[in-house]
Amino acid sequence: MNINAKPLQKPANPNFSSGPCSKRPGYDVSHLDISTLGRSHRSTIGKKALAKACQQSKEMLGLPEGYRVGVVPASDTGAMEMALWSLLGERGVDVLAWESFGKGWITDILGQLKLNNVRTFEADYGQLPDLSQANFNNDIVFTWNGTTSGVKVPDGDWIADDRTGLTICDATSAVFAMELPWEKLDVVTFSWQKVLGGEGAHGMLILSPRAVERLESYVPPWPLPKIFRMTKNGKLIEGIFKGATINTPSMLCVADYLDALDWVEGLGGVSGSIKKSQDNLAVIENFVSKTDWIDFLAESADTRSNTSICLKLKAAPEQVKAIVSLLADEGVAFDIGAYRDAPAGLRIWGGATVESSDIEALLPWLEWAYTQVTSE
Ligand SMILES: Cc1ncc(COP(=O)(O)O)c(C=O)c1O
Repeated sequence: MNINAKPLQKPANPNFSSGPCSKRPGYDVSHLDISTLGRSHRSTIGKKALAKACQQSKEMLGLPEGYRVGVVPASDTGAMEMALWSLLGERGVDVLAWESFGKGWITDILGQLKLNNVRTFEADYGQLPDLSQANFNNDIVFTWNGTTSGVKVPDGDWIADDRTGLTICDATSAVFAMELPWEKLDVVTFSWQKVLGGEGAHGMLILSPRAVERLESYVPPWPLPKIFRMTKNGKLIEGIFKGATINTPSMLCVADYLDALDWVEGLGGVSGSIKKSQDNLAVIENFVSKTDWIDFLAESADTRSNTSICLKLKAAPEQVKAIVSLLADEGVAFDIGAYRDAPAGLRIWGGATVESSDIEALLPWLEWAYTQVTSE
């Protein structure tokens, strides 16, 4: 066999980034309903589109009665910051973190909010902290899927049903790709550019009735900028969850989000997009099981992410970089290097906008690039 021979077929779509993620197959910007553009977002059609974004998300995700969904500024970070700054401080906080973004929430809670009744449970890349340590009389802050380590919580069984604190979950790389136990989650945030391949800019904030109760009964001791404020005179501003956004959103991004939701409906709804993502992971699992120089960063199979699939290689960090560059230069795979704070490796997005056939086509190229770089 000629080890220099390139595989014959390239992925039809080489976009495997973990955010913004690939547009869906068949995406065409000219198909968006742009009738709202150039109009006020508070016009009848503007508000209708925004209300639809909230309502359709709620229905498709199967949220329990009384849960609210709102479009908020500044992507997932904006939604999480709104929640942390509006809700925390009423009681103790347990923060669970195992990669860059989760650790970022610790920085916020300790360094910026300066809360002192805080317990942190951290684990290194590849692992989860001991979830059984969480005290559900405290508020719990965690990410469902650690996008930069490819480690997710296996399920919600560790979350107490009779909790008195709130669970605040950054689920940006999980919503629409993983089963979420909504009844166990009081605040959930996500952004459009991940699993749905939508556009960055706006965040989705999901609140349980208990989260709303907290908002209406607790006023944090620090000032809250207008962009974070969800109550007025001690009452929830319900409009935020019915399409009356706090400030001006991009109606083009909204049109794009609605288009993505319709596409998920066409897959059979959330179960369809979850299955596509799981099938993508299965393709990589099969490859890893037959290849001795590659392994998952996630140490345990039940914590393996099916969206941000993180892999470690038997290679030096500079060799990994060379593999990533080679694949990009060949037009085979873009943006598959590990996140900047994570151990050197690969991160291949397996959300539903990525086709299994493209991952299948990528893998022989990965083998080729590995051979080229490590036999130099
Ligand atoms: C777990 C997690 N939290 C937060 C963020 C930040 O998201 P955004 O850029 O949408 O604010 C990301 C982005 O990748 C993420 O993966």
